[in-house]
Amino acid sequence: MSLSTLQIPTARVFEPLLKPARYKAAWGGRGSGKSRFFGGLLVEDSLYHKGLLSVCIREVQKTLKDSSKRLIEYTLSEHRLGEADGFKIYEDRIKTPGDGVIIFMGMQDHTAESIKSLEGFRRAFVEEAQTLSGRSLELLRPTIRAEDSELWFPWNPRKRTDPVDVMFRGGSPPTGSVVVRANWSDNPWFPAALEQERLDCLRSNPDQYAHIWEGDYVTISTGAYYASDLARARSEGRIGNVAADPLMPIKAYWDIGVSDATSIWIAQFVGREIRVLDYYEAVGQPLAAHVAWLRDNGYDRAECVLPHDSAQRDAITAIRFEDHIRSAGFEARAVSNQGRGAAMKRVEAARRVFASIWFNEKRCEGGLSALGWYHEKRDDARNIGLGPEHDWASHAADAFGLMCVDYEAPPAAKRKLRLEPGHKGSWMSV
Ligand SMILES: Nc1ncnc2c1ncn2[C@@H]1O[C@H](COP(=O)(O)OP(=O)(O)OP(=O)(O)O)[C@@H](O)[C@H]1O
Ligand SMILES: [Mg+2]
Repeated sequence: MSLSTLQIPTARVFEPLLKPARYKAAWGGRGSGKSRFFGGLLVEDSLYHKGLLSVCIREVQKTLKDSSKRLIEYTLSEHRLGEADGFKIYEDRIKTPGDGVIIFMGMQDHTAESIKSLEGFRRAFVEEAQTLSGRSLELLRPTIRAEDSELWFPWNPRKRTDPVDVMFRGGSPPTGSVVVRANWSDNPWFPAALEQERLDCLRSNPDQYAHIWEGDYVTISTGAYYASDLARARSEGRIGNVAADPLMPIKAYWDIGVSDATSIWIAQFVGREIRVLDYYEAVGQPLAAHVAWLRDNGYDRAECVLPHDSAQRDAITAIRFEDHIRSAGFEARAVSNQGRGAAMKRVEAARRVFASIWFNEKRCEGGLSALGWYHEKRDDARNIGLGPEHDWASHAADAFGLMCVDYEAPPAAKRKLRLEPGHKGSWMSV
């Protein structure tokens, strides 16, 4: 093969990673082509930058079988690159044109001293980067320091707190990062065997589907109320680009946290669809902050719908809230008291209507991960469920459930509830 003819086809999703960048990150579910993309790029860079020193890294590499060596060998053979082109495969390394080399190693075998042998390397390809420890990342970043050096990170996310997720998805990725999300649906060469695996997973292991195939964080596997509904929504394409209908009213469903988080879902009911457009959450902020968010995001005409479960909440706080929201210029109403077991009633309502729900993925990211996590508290000793766990995810889930209850309610039941003047703590409909 000659230089001018190397053409590695690239899926569109990876195109932003073709131009030079200090950090190239690609995260997503299985079979999205992440490994093949970076393998191809490494071969290409080795061919065009004579003498390039590259290292393929894993957190743990017990033998070369655990390494990316086979991937690189396969890529070379696929493009008929061999000794005539300057590549030569050795037992533990691959020689590349102009006295370059690709080596393979595990971070756990390195110390702060030994890692220094990598100074001068200009490509670090960190495969399965979700397993990379914080220590490894700290060792690696300053080591790969040569002019025009690049660090590459493909990974399948597990937890929001994994170091690679914190680094690239934690809100302030390092300067010079290009981050893409890639899933099976972005892979034009997605093989039939993997498609079969995907469909089998959807059927037999729906709780894990979004994690394995769509790149979501792991959700709790037993007792997660919405795991399979979310998996279905994803596979049916109901989590993606959802736009507001400018002619339809906008509703804002609140869960009011007096001392903890306040959550708001923004939704429209359009025909038989519930379009969930946005999600907001804040801890320890005054009402003015929530209202400002509504205004700043174009929801200044939203009808605010508030919970009213006297079992969990102080009626006076709720009514004050409603008044405050009204005096801020919003329409507001409370959904009537659902009495005992309100949380489970919300879950049941949500499950009934879930198939009609569409989510704007970008705007609802935080809310979606909370819905994925929302789960039953269990007493393992007695093997019984104790109702929904109250944790960081339950506020989002409560406000979401409120929306579903409200959607289900026949129009007559949606009349406004107001506190009767001069009457303490009881409700009348008007
Ligand atoms: N450029 C390509 N040319 C031909 N086939 C490709 C290409 N990219 C991906 N594929 C096909 O897609 C499959 C999945 O690609 P790859 O293994 O790179 O995905 P991945 O995102 O690394 O998956 P995993 O999360 O399982 O590690 C490959 O086995 C191959 O069949
Ligand atoms: Mg891979």
